[in-house]
Amino acid sequence: MDTEEKKEISVEDEAVDKNIFKDCNKIAFYRRQKQQLSKRSTYRALLDSVTTGEDSTNFQIINEATKIPLRAEVYGLEGDIFRLKINEEVPLKPRYEVPDVLTSKPSSLRLISCSGVTGSLVLANEKGNLKFHITADPFKIDLISEDDIVISVNSLGQLYFEQIQASPKKRATKENEDSSSISASKQENQDDMGLWEEKFRKFEDIKANGPTSIGLDFSLHGFRHLYGIPQHADSHQLKNTSDGDAYRLYNLDVYGYKLHDKMGIYGSVPYLLAHKVGRTVGIFWLNASETLVEISTEPPGESTQMGSVASKQKVKSRADVRWMSESGIIDVFLLTGPTPSDVFKQYSLLTGTQAMPPLFSLGYHQSRWNYEDEQDVKAVDAGFDEHDIPYDVMWLDIEHTRGKRYFTWDKKRFPTPKRMQALLRSKHRKLVVISDPHIKVDPNYSLYAEAKKRGFFVRSHEGGDFEGVCWPGLSSYLDFTNPKVREWYSSLFAFPAYKGSTDILFIWNDMNEPSVFRGPELTMQKNAVHHGNWEHRELHNIYGFYQQMATAEGLIKRSEGKERPFVLTRSFFAGSQKYGAVWTGDNRSDWSYLKISIPMLLTLSITGISFCGADVGGFIGNPEAELLVRWYQAGAYQPFFRGHATMKTKRREPWLFGEKHTRLIREAIRARYALLPYWYSLFYHAHVTAEPIMRPLWVEFPYELEAFSMEDEYMLGSALLVHPVTEAKATEIDVFLPGSEEVWYDFKTFARWEGARTVKIPVALDTIPVFQRGGSVVPVKTAIGKSTGWMTEYPYGLRVAPSAKGSAAGGLYLDDGHSFRHRHQQEFLHRSFSFCSGVLSNSCADARGHYRSKCVVEQIVVLGLSKQPSSVTTHSSDGEDQPVAFTYSARTSTLSLERLSLNIAANWEVHVR
Ligand code: GLC
Repeated sequence: MDTEEKKEISVEDEAVDKNIFKDCNKIAFYRRQKQQLSKRSTYRALLDSVTTGEDSTNFQIINEATKIPLRAEVYGLEGDIFRLKINEEVPLKPRYEVPDVLTSKPSSLRLISCSGVTGSLVLANEKGNLKFHITADPFKIDLISEDDIVISVNSLGQLYFEQIQASPKKRATKENEDSSSISASKQENQDDMGLWEEKFRKFEDIKANGPTSIGLDFSLHGFRHLYGIPQHADSHQLKNTSDGDAYRLYNLDVYGYKLHDKMGIYGSVPYLLAHKVGRTVGIFWLNASETLVEISTEPPGESTQMGSVASKQKVKSRADVRWMSESGIIDVFLLTGPTPSDVFKQYSLLTGTQAMPPLFSLGYHQSRWNYEDEQDVKAVDAGFDEHDIPYDVMWLDIEHTRGKRYFTWDKKRFPTPKRMQALLRSKHRKLVVISDPHIKVDPNYSLYAEAKKRGFFVRSHEGGDFEGVCWPGLSSYLDFTNPKVREWYSSLFAFPAYKGSTDILFIWNDMNEPSVFRGPELTMQKNAVHHGNWEHRELHNIYGFYQQMATAEGLIKRSEGKERPFVLTRSFFAGSQKYGAVWTGDNRSDWSYLKISIPMLLTLSITGISFCGADVGGFIGNPEAELLVRWYQAGAYQPFFRGHATMKTKRREPWLFGEKHTRLIREAIRARYALLPYWYSLFYHAHVTAEPIMRPLWVEFPYELEAFSMEDEYMLGSALLVHPVTEAKATEIDVFLPGSEEVWYDFKTFARWEGARTVKIPVALDTIPVFQRGGSVVPVKTAIGKSTGWMTEYPYGLRVAPSAKGSAAGGLYLDDGHSFRHRHQQEFLHRSFSFCSGVLSNSCADARGHYRSKCVVEQIVVLGLSKQPSSVTTHSSDGEDQPVAFTYSARTSTLSLERLSLNIAANWEVHVR
């Protein structure tokens, strides 16, 4: 039974067939690297070969056994980043270097070479606080900050580099030998090591370039906490790997993926972060071929680091990370921090920041595979209004098309797509439809015919278009790595080209690992051929990235550059954040999958992909009402908030579980909408300064050891701590409130706690444990509309939560919510709120912005006031003072001001005495 059949039937409890997928021991390059390294070959840097290029320092490294030279290039990049590239000195053919990920050519700073001891070279950045200490024999590099070694490269001697060779056949001919002269045992050994051919199940991978694997080790001194390298359905903190159990980065379609597993699923970001008290660093391994990461952390006190500089360091623990890739070159960026936000910024200098999303996409999305027809869409849409539940986006899955031919409509089910969109538009709602990368082989399908004619499909290694099976049956796959294909694909979204589409229609890219149902590991053969004659193996992990890129560009183009796109993708790579949102694929309706959504999203968030979410309710299976409610409550506090379900699951629109559960789901979704001003402002900061939206506690509390491995709670921005309930029948949960200097306020009851403690919080089914951090001001909306579009003019409220010292600060970002005018015409507002000595002020945070808003702040709630004020007055910028009516609750120590009318865009103060 293939996956297609599997997906057709109800497979609620079917476990993933792990035999379909490789474990490490079935991966030939892994076996080769392991075998070779047990022999410990060494490399020596030839420091008398040092030359200085335009922006790099270059030297040769030589393998002592083979004498094959490699060329190393070291760059010092702006933002305290070091880049190390290692390639063959004279490759027989060019090796693949990942294009299109780096936002621009990172600007280099000249490294200053300082004299080291003999046999070493020291390169320093201009400030002189960071040094790259290169030792010649055996070759290793230490990254030194002040006097501490932070990262060592190749200190374990695991540099591995397979040279491209002529194929044995060619060699044999050249040497005028009969290929039969290769002895049988040698041949066998070659097969086993998968040098030129690799077998897996019934699949045979013939390798045009033979073995081209690379690898390198990094030791992180003083670090025990490592994070990143999504995507795995596993804990936020990376675990030690043992032999055969490396984290795999290989984009695969794994239906109902297994939890707590290191196998690769839909996307890959080859970027790892390490954190310890006082320092955060990152390692970005820019390689798009299959990659494995091994990790070993040493407990404190067992460090084996030697050497003169090392002996100076005070640190006691160490983490070793070994990267292995099937192909390409070594191109690695060391991000030196020192703080978590420095590392986020450094990574964004390389790969870009989260795209500023259209506001509607932060609302709630309603999806299922499938909404049957226009009548169904209309009824579901009306259901939301009848039950007074806001939502922004209706989604249509593959069945909306004519036989899974994307960009078409099934004429029976969706005869009048424009009329359907007009209905949604009248409610300020949107439509998202799916567009997958596989194109049905059908000469009468114009899109297929044109792509075929123009040579826009990936080719098979035998020549001819690659064909594989996916939803439509036999399909070919667009070669998005070709800029011409991307340009053409983008043009398909133009309104005249995409019949039945309107400007409220947005796109979902799925199956773009790519998924190939009868292919090896359900994906494309590695020897399929892409634009530029590159083998699929070189770029497998970046295929989905390119589809989302082309789609986002298409949506921008169709609006003549005016409107922000929204594109959801399942597969992704480093830098995908620039093109839209990512979700965690085919999860299950089970408490364990609700729970894992938090670490999975935290990991995506810290690797740049802030706009992420998991299918609410679980894609596979039928959630019981309690699980569904808890999932809505969790999803309401995760960046991308979409309910979705597979075919043949029972319908689960929010009102189908009885009055009580409808109310609870309504409250959760409304809680999301109330916080939209805060969400939108967080996205603005993610976009501008690369701060993740969902933050693991260690990011906000980098000195709090206890927080380093927490993954059942997290910060939303810097002001809210969220601890979703992920256990069935919970009546109480333990919430860790970090920070000995902090105070925290329950967002609903206003109860106040001192930080640095774990509190037991009673939870009923309507409890969503959210806490506001003392010292913050959170903007909210005081009324909720049918969708975000209804709420533009609705008034604001401010939640002021004073710190232990009695002050608070926050902000609000605002623009038209859909266009690029915020960027090109500076049409935005950025306001800053501060509360100090009883005065709350609203002032301008960015004088460049000008956006007209008639919105007012209607309500202000100040928490944690121990005594009733004697008076409250407002002071406007024209100097007028007005007394304000207020209520004070001694029980909750809360001051509430209602029915205010203070313009959000004006400077004013509120004095509490
Ligand atoms: C994949 C997607 C899922 C979608 C289905 C049909 O399984 O992950 O979300 O509903 O394909 O398109």
